[in-house]
Amino acid sequence: MPSFDLTQTQQDALLATARQAQRQAYAPYSNYPVGAAVLDAQGHIHAGCNVENAAYPEGLCAEAAALSAMVLAGGRQARAVLVVGSGGNGSWITPCGGCRQKLREFGAPDLIIQSANELTLGPRHTLAQLLPESFGPGHIKGN
Ligand code: THU
Repeated sequence: MPSFDLTQTQQDALLATARQAQRQAYAPYSNYPVGAAVLDAQGHIHAGCNVENAAYPEGLCAEAAALSAMVLAGGRQARAVLVVGSGGNGSWITPCGGCRQKLREFGAPDLIIQSANELTLGPRHTLAQLLPESFGPGHIKGN
C-alpha cells in the first residue's frame, strides 16, 4: 500500500487532465495516443502527451513530457502519475522502462502510478513495484 494516498478530487483531476492530454497526442506512426498527468508535492498537476516523429526511436513519451512540464513549473517531487492509453483487461498501459527511470529521479518508492484507458481506471502500482532495486540520485551523490 502506498503511504501517500490520493483524494478523490486529486484522482478526478489527474484523470481529466491525462484524458485531455491524450486527445492532444501526436502519434501518427503508432496510432497509440497517450496522455499523462503528474501531481507534484505542491498539489499542482502537469500534463504531457506522446509526440512522435518520422525517426521512430526519437519519439517522446507522455510521462517524459509531463515530467518536463513539472520541472519547468518548478516542481521537483512527483507524488502520483496517471497514464491514459488504450487497452485493459490485462494489457493496461504502464510506463515504459525509460520512463520508469525518469520517474525515479523525481519520485519516492511510494510514488503512485495509476493506469487508465479512455473508459475507466485500471490498476495502481507504486514506483517500487514497477522499478524494484532501482538506481537513483543517492547512488552517485557524494562521489
Ligand atoms: N508511450 C507513452 O507515451 N507512454 C507509455 O507509457 C507507453 C508508450 C508512447 C510511445 C509511443 O509514442 C507510443 O506510445 C507507442 O509505443
